[in-house]
Parts: sequence; structure tokens; C-alpha cells
Amino acid sequence: MSTPTEWYRDPYLISTSSSLLQPAAVNEAFKSDSLYWAKPIGESLVKKMLEKSLCFGLYELPSSTSSIAGKSGPRQIGLARLITDEVSFAYLTDVYVLDEFQGKGLGTWLIECLEAHVMKWPELRRIMLLTDHTNKFYEDKLGVKPFPQGVKSGMSIFSRIGLGSVLSD
Ligand SMILES: CC(C)(COP(=O)(O)OP(=O)(O)OC[C@H]1O[C@@H](n2cnc3c(N)ncnc32)[C@H](O)[C@@H]1OP(=O)(O)O)[C@@H](O)C(=O)NCCC(=O)NCCS
Repeated sequence: MSTPTEWYRDPYLISTSSSLLQPAAVNEAFKSDSLYWAKPIGESLVKKMLEKSLCFGLYELPSSTSSIAGKSGPRQIGLARLITDEVSFAYLTDVYVLDEFQGKGLGTWLIECLEAHVMKWPELRRIMLLTDHTNKFYEDKLGVKPFPQGVKSGMSIFSRIGLGSVLSD
């Protein structure tokens, strides 16, 4: 397993360490209406999903040693998950910052860290994601562009939903 990469911005931490990830916290976030593409699933499946992805966990660090006492680690307050071979392709999903932490620049920082990590891969062919077409967040922060279906590139993206999809197509 590769050494985790970490970024600090007091009192927050972004880490690619799989040992810090909190499947129960991620599953709880899946209940939120703002994560319109997700729904809570079995916790063991969330664990597997996270283990098999390159996850950028966002954590709030404890502010004092007394608040550390009795806690097993920092609280997970956000996530950006890449389904990837870590060489040629990465699909970005499950990006969120909990409501109470939004608007502090953490979502922008999360995507900046992810971009700094992934765009170094010398053999990366493409990063992809699916989002609401009115959402400019990823265009602004990650530099992605809508795929020109068949028009300029001569290529189209095809997809098919599965049993677990909460989207209709
Ligand atoms: C999208 C999301 C990850 C951004 O996280 P964040 O920590 O709030 O992001 P930032 O503070 O860096 O702000 C990023 C932009 O979102 C806007 N924003 C942040 N919080 C907001 C809020 N509560 N309401 C409206 N706009 C908000 C900011 O104005 C900012 O825009 P700017 O860069 O043009 O100034 C977060 O809002 C979220 O988790 N949303 C719900 C899940 C979601 O939609 N995920 C993306 C799936 S496509």
C-alpha cells in the first residue's frame, strides 16, 4: 500500500489514508438530500467501496488534548472519492462537505488537493465525473469541461444504470 498523502489547514486535515476513513460517517452523509445521487447502504458495503477507491477524506482535528481523550481519531466531515487504477483513469464521485462546514473554502481545497495529486500521474488519460449540468463547481475548481458528445470529438459517452442507482438514467 502506498504512503498516504496529507494536507493540513488548521484545524482541518485532508488525507488519502484508508485507515482514517469512517464508513458510518460516510453512510450517514448518504442520507442527506444534498447528496442526491446516493442513498445509505449496508455499512460493510460502504467500507468495501471506500477500501477499493482512492479516497480524499476531510477531517476536523480535535482542538485540545482533552477533546482527543476518548476519541479514536479526527471526525470525518467530507470526502472526495476516486474510482481509479491510479495510472490511466479516474472517475470522481461522492464529493461532499457536511452542511455545517460548507462555505469555508473546504470543498475548493479538497478539489485542489485531489487535482494536485492526480494531475501528476504521467500516464493519466482522463478524469471523469457525472454532475448536474448547472453545477459549475468542477469546471471552476478542477478544470473539467462538458464532453462534446459526438460533435467535435466524434466520440460519445455511454452508460447504463445498475440496481443501486437512485438516478433514473
Ligand atoms: C459542493 C460542496 C462540496 C462545496 O463545498 P464547500 O466547502 O461549501 O465549498 P467552498 O466553501 O470551497 O465553496 C465553493 C463554492 O460553493 C459555494 N458555496 C459553498 N457553500 C455554499 C452554500 N451552503 N450555499 C451556496 N453556495 C455555497 C461558494 O460560494 C463557492 O463558490 P465560489 O468558489 O464561486 O465562491 C458542498 O457544497 C457540498 O457538499 N454540497 C452537497 C453535495 C454536493 O453537491 N456535492 C457535489 C456533487 S456534484
